[in-house]
Amino acid sequence: MLIHILYPEDLTAHHGNTKKIAGTMAEVLDAEVLESVDVDVSSLDKYDLIGFGSGIYGWKHHNSLSALIDKMSHTNKKAFIFSTRGNLIRLVPLENYHKNVRNRLLEKGFEIMGEFSCLGFDTSGPLRFVGGKNKGYPNENDLDDARTFATGLKNGYKFTKIAGS
Ligand SMILES: Cc1cc2nc3c(=O)[nH]c(=O)nc-3n(C[C@H](O)[C@H](O)[C@H](O)COP(=O)(O)O)c2cc1C
Repeated sequence: MLIHILYPEDLTAHHGNTKKIAGTMAEVLDAEVLESVDVDVSSLDKYDLIGFGSGIYGWKHHNSLSALIDKMSHTNKKAFIFSTRGNLIRLVPLENYHKNVRNRLLEKGFEIMGEFSCLGFDTSGPLRFVGGKNKGYPNENDLDDARTFATGLKNGYKFTKIAGS
């Protein structure tokens, strides 16, 4: 199993928020976490379940995540999607943020086992002048939610959607 996290190193407002979620899920799933965008897609062949995650940038996952999926061959593997974001889910539904990656995965033949998202510290745009928002997120509750989600995946449950904070 593998959790793949894309690290948008080019963005100054990146805080490693999604990395915390990936690490927490990986502990439960006993999975490897890849952080590089520079992945040889053939090296993913050995995994039966792949998690695709990054922060949300401009209403969707980081572009490099979509680019990676586009390079993959058609498959019947299982996948899950995760993200951290600045905005509350009641302001923007999770479906909107994940749909780009979800549609790409479905086109490639992946069976989507679940989706997870929670708040992350956000210093995008003018927020950096006021110290950012969501300080301390993901918090302990979010990490607990991530553990619950990963435990469900491990037990073969399929989630249509789970959103943390
Ligand atoms: C350039 C930029 C654009 C962003 N766009 C959004 C957005 O459209 N919606 C949102 O909820 N959060 C947005 N955010 C906030 C990030 O998704 C949030 O800080 C996330 O936790 C970052 O994850 P990371 O630390 O793993 O990269 C944006 C942040 C940056 C820097």
